[in-house]
Amino acid sequence: MIKNPLILAIDTSCDDTSVALTLKNQVISNFIASQTQIHQPFGGVFPTLAKQAHQKNLPVLINAILKKNHLSFNQIQALAVTYGPGLAPALEVGLNYIKTIHQEFPHLKILAVNHLQAHLLAVLASNNTDKSQEKLINLKNLLPALGLIVSGGHSCFVKIQNPTQFYLLGETLDDACGECLDKVGRLLSLGYPAGHIIENLAKKGNAKKFSFPLPMTNQKNFNLSFSGLKTFSKNLINQLEKENKLDQKTITDFCASFQHSCFNHLIYKLKKILLTQQFQSLWLGGGVASNIYLRKLLRSTLKTYKQKKITNVKLLTPINKKLCTDNAAMIGVASYFLWQIAKFSNIEKLDRNPCLKIEK
Ligand code: KG4
Ligand code: ZN
Repeated sequence: MIKNPLILAIDTSCDDTSVALTLKNQVISNFIASQTQIHQPFGGVFPTLAKQAHQKNLPVLINAILKKNHLSFNQIQALAVTYGPGLAPALEVGLNYIKTIHQEFPHLKILAVNHLQAHLLAVLASNNTDKSQEKLINLKNLLPALGLIVSGGHSCFVKIQNPTQFYLLGETLDDACGECLDKVGRLLSLGYPAGHIIENLAKKGNAKKFSFPLPMTNQKNFNLSFSGLKTFSKNLINQLEKENKLDQKTITDFCASFQHSCFNHLIYKLKKILLTQQFQSLWLGGGVASNIYLRKLLRSTLKTYKQKKITNVKLLTPINKKLCTDNAAMIGVASYFLWQIAKFSNIEKLDRNPCLKIEK
């Protein structure tokens, strides 16, 4: 069995179709066909339309990536695919497609990847051969790591024992962080998805203008909750509208204060975890991970805790925005670690698991 396979990876878990070519943790190509325009009118993902778009885009992307790299399936050793969590009709498109490819090219090994684990392993991805090598060599100095996933569908803290062993420490009991940003953005008619729009508006606003409640402070666990912040926002927006105060300046102040409240909730729980457990690094993944203000808050928290000699954890983030939001490169990187432990899937039995947990 070859040690470092060339892998074609596919992600159709939600609203973006993505295919990638990876070698170990090195990203050779990472193609993404966004469906933002399709779902924008609905203010969220419409599953049937997502499925249709995946069916149309996937064969086109696969042909394009092979052509660009002058490759055929005969030169590839494995197919990696997201089998969960995600939207059932969307996941099915990826799985059905690899079944068709496998019929024609049965030499291909099948690697079924957990999308959540992949969001965290995205911090190991690199475009540069030397840097990817360096990250793999340093891996043992980074583990155990604390993982924080903040995406449109998930928000959780995870202990990463090694790249194939994950333990859930706490998760949102209701909305995900990105979902909360998107829903509140919708109340302000900011457009979908709203996370990066709120981030940009917040840059010009005063984060201290409005004070928001800090959720879950009376609970010792590391779970999260964003629905209270959403309801508080809704009431505040209604009140400001009624008083005719919702002008552009107030919207920027609101965005700064609201964004800060969402991230402050993450920081509060992060501090609790760091006080009770030792980690070597903090891995940040998911769409919200591209937010610069969040990264700044995390870095300054870690710096303070380092000064207090509580922890010496350093923050690792994906090298670019494309690796934060949904993408197939992270699926390819995650699958390399499955290849190493020979965790191959039987194509006949392979099925989607829309509610797959991080630990599986
Ligand atoms: O990881 P992702 O592409 O999809 C899921 O797996 O859920 O994350 C999408 C989420 C959306 O909620 C979007 O608003 C949020 O990531 N997002 C951001 C930023 N860019 C994307 N949130 C805050 N700041 C950003 N710059
Ligand atoms: Zn995702």
